[in-house]
Amino acid sequence: MSDKGGLEGIVVARSELCSIDGQNGILVYRGYDIRDLAEHASYEEVAYLLLRGDLPSSSELAAFKSDLAAARVVSGEAAQVVDLIAQDAKPMEMLRTAVSATSFDDADKDSNEEDANQRKALRLIAKIPTLIGRYQRRREGKEPVEPDPELDYATNFLTMLRGERPTAEEARTFDVAMILHADHEMNASTFTARVIASTLSDMHSAVVGAIGALKGPLHGGANEQVMKTLEAVGSVEEVDEEVHRRLVEKQRIMGFGHRVYKTMDPRAAILKEYAHALSERADGTEPNWYEMSRRMEEIVLAEKGLYPNVDFYSASTYHYLRIPTDLFTTLFVASRVVGWSAHVIEQHRDNRLIRPNSEYVGPARRAYPVGSR
Ligand code: ACO
Repeated sequence: MSDKGGLEGIVVARSELCSIDGQNGILVYRGYDIRDLAEHASYEEVAYLLLRGDLPSSSELAAFKSDLAAARVVSGEAAQVVDLIAQDAKPMEMLRTAVSATSFDDADKDSNEEDANQRKALRLIAKIPTLIGRYQRRREGKEPVEPDPELDYATNFLTMLRGERPTAEEARTFDVAMILHADHEMNASTFTARVIASTLSDMHSAVVGAIGALKGPLHGGANEQVMKTLEAVGSVEEVDEEVHRRLVEKQRIMGFGHRVYKTMDPRAAILKEYAHALSERADGTEPNWYEMSRRMEEIVLAEKGLYPNVDFYSASTYHYLRIPTDLFTTLFVASRVVGWSAHVIEQHRDNRLIRPNSEYVGPARRAYPVGSR
């Protein structure tokens, strides 16, 4: 067992997908630095890279985008599930349930062949934004905005969610956020997906299990908690006192710390710039979330030596994009489904059941107390 538990430092798979240099804050997808991808690529391009093994040519990208756009529509039982539960289920409960329902009419559901897995991955990537958009509109008592095949991934997603077209800057910001969340080596939800796939269970089951793992506040659920913390703090002036109080009380400050990064998470550094740019366009009717975040970053680094992770600046970024806080973790799902499905494909390609051991620390063998109780 690793000294501290939690499988720290244990290598559980070989993967060609993603590598992290935690000491130097470097994240790479199939050889490409995340900073280059965030600057030059689109989310669709990154999805192709992770799923198919290399960057697409322009014709391959056009075909991939068109296949994705065509697969966005959600109908039948999955749509009914969303409509049925929209008022009662929380966003991640909805997604955990509705994503499962998308397998019911999936023609490839019983096959783990690579072609079938690729088709299922594409459909999941295409449909998850539609499920989230439909849910949001239904719980607001409004008609869903149907996906528009003419729009790129980010523009379509934000339009379905907010009921109006985003600006080009908003769409690009959102696209970059999706790129940054698409994969991250052997994080808890990806490990979950690989464990499920290793039993030769199917893609949808692996993704649903991964959604359950991502939901927790120590993993993807942290982005919602960050926004709640910022709202509780309330203003730039209150940051110092409130963060110190939480630290004295030994509370965890959400959005800080990471199992692998011992310096700034490169995704946080990129999102920080986007949050800053959006804050400069804000109308001043709300607190300056970016300035609050920046001051929190300074204090937590000085007091605890901890750096922000991806969830920290994604919170203010999504808030500036006018996305409701309780949807933040569902956006993480929408992006990370690329990584999960690429890992499932890798696992199925060269599978061996993942079945580790535990160290028994219970009572020594003893006799059953026949007749003495
Ligand atoms: N706030 C305050 N203290 C912290 C924080 C934090 N956010 N993170 C770690 N610490 C402290 C711990 O209390 C511990 O201190 P101690 O040794 O004095 O007890 C020390 O740092 C090590 O922490 P561990 O929990 O052992 O580190 P681990 O690698 O297990 O945890 C984790 C990593 C879960 C991300 C942790 O840093 C944390 O809880 N962060 C807040 C939640 C969060 O932001 N999660 C999102 C992570 S990114 C993602 O999943 C997408």
